[in-house]
Amino acid sequence: MRHLMSPLDLSVEELDRILDLANDIEADPGKYAHACEGKKLATLFYEPSTRTRLSFEAAMLNLGGSVLGFSSADSSSAAKGESVADTIRVISCYADIAAMRHPKEGAPLVAALHSRIPVINAGDGGHQHPTQTLTDLLTIRSLKGRLGNITIGLCGDLKFGRTVHSLINALVRYEGVRFILISPEELRIPDYVREDVLRRSGHEFKEVIRLEEALPELDILYMTRVQKERFFNEEDYVRMKDFYILDKAKMKLAGPDMMVLHPLPRVNEISVEVDADPRAAYFRQAQYGVYVRMALILTLLEVKVC
Ligand code: NCD
Repeated sequence: MRHLMSPLDLSVEELDRILDLANDIEADPGKYAHACEGKKLATLFYEPSTRTRLSFEAAMLNLGGSVLGFSSADSSSAAKGESVADTIRVISCYADIAAMRHPKEGAPLVAALHSRIPVINAGDGGHQHPTQTLTDLLTIRSLKGRLGNITIGLCGDLKFGRTVHSLINALVRYEGVRFILISPEELRIPDYVREDVLRRSGHEFKEVIRLEEALPELDILYMTRVQKERFFNEEDYVRMKDFYILDKAKMKLAGPDMMVLHPLPRVNEISVEVDADPRAAYFRQAQYGVYVRMALILTLLEVKVC
């Protein structure tokens, strides 16, 4: 039985197969409409979510399966003090696969250790978010045609942004990826990512504060929201929240093929005037999230569709 805690749980070949399957689902969704009939997905969300939970649910429904779950800790037995280990033991009797989001780093891993069904990490605190990374990789590969030989700028809250941590872990496995890390001093990438992942990989990277400086060099700009819920005090959040605002004027500094991604939700960091720019790909990215979660569910449940 396989779980998915980090993108590194998948080899590059397995990952390629999942992305190929997602592209096939996109091309011919009807072929997969009954693939998971009789199977159930449990969504165990102890933290707010729109896209991740609903795209998991849409993915399972598109495969002909059913879904059950809860969308906040308050509405589950966690509010009564039940441990994640006990919860997953019980859910293992009700469902065939589970996706879990939790504010504590490592909680989905604890669940996986006590589970009889595959567990997918749907975001654990400021740590990892592997299915967002699958979404990002599918978007980049589908729209740019490649995952290697790109210069990617990661901008915003690189300290608490789990999507950034997972994406860097995944991209260092491809040749010729250059990273430009764009953040204010206080929201720089954590040392364990900079030293253990980036420096160890030998990939070229630099850290800058000004977005304007990076824009002309980028093939992809990955914008992120300042993670309000992970700040210790409101004052620091307020000071940081509008540090970057991508608008039409800044987009003029970028090349004609630069692609703008964002895991969403957006707050102020991308002005709505950018949405009409053909380089803005963040809503298409959300659509790719459904295809790739369908491909992941099929893979973890070992369902083959001919
Ligand atoms: C991200 C998350 O939850 O980490 N959202 C998502 O899953 N699409 C990004 C964020 O909340 O800023």
